Amino acid sequence: MNNEQNAFPIFGLIKENNIISTWLRNSYFITKEMSLTEHGLKHAEFVSNRALEIAKAIGSDKRNQDLVLSAAYMHDIGNFLSRTYHHYLGSMFLFEIFKDKIDIKDLTIIMQAVANHDKEEMKLVHPVSAMVVIADKSDVRRERVLENNIEKIKTDIHDRVNYSTIENKMVISSDKKIITLKLKIDTQVCPVMEYFEIFTSRMNYCRLSAEYLGYHFSLIINDFKLL
Ligand SMILES: [Fe+2]
Ligand SMILES: [Fe+2]
Repeated sequence: MNNEQNAFPIFGLIKENNIISTWLRNSYFITKEMSLTEHGLKHAEFVSNRALEIAKAIGSDKRNQDLVLSAAYMHDIGNFLSRTYHHYLGSMFLFEIFKDKIDIKDLTIIMQAVANHDKEEMKLVHPVSAMVVIADKSDVRRERVLENNIEKIKTDIHDRVNYSTIENKMVISSDKKIITLKLKIDTQVCPVMEYFEIFTSRMNYCRLSAEYLGYHFSLIINDFKLL
């Protein structure tokens, strides 16, 4: 167990759980098979690190840091069974796996965050849910386009947008109450307008989630402030 896991007891339990690591590996293969962007361990790690970064920056207590790290790490595990209902399935399975291992109050918050992270189902009921949404919806990166899909960037706008993103940073000002997503995109691969074509709804979820936390959400692409 490393230092991070020691500092976060719930996350420590989750990282050691063989079912979770198996399903994350499986989610990777399923989404690869479906020609989607990467949804395995790397996405889980990126989203959980970013969610923790947000939690620390906005001053969440240690318990909420542990909860957000855990929920973010597991938010996509349901993908191994169904893409459409992955948020509900993942959430329900967590109860089966952890009902005797995690306090029910903590598990409830994690389950809500997992169930609420996707699309129209998004209902913000707790700061942990809001932080998971911002971390997940802001994960746009070149590395998420799997090797077998690189050819597809010519025809698939989602792959093109991810492939064009060469830098992705989040800057949080707790004084000004602003969460800023800073992206560098290669406009030879994807013009900024195309980015907006599919990312308007994602950015809207980030905006609503930031507002839930009492923050303004801002988007800067190639040094242009767009939101
Ligand atoms: Fe998801
Ligand atoms: Fe995700």
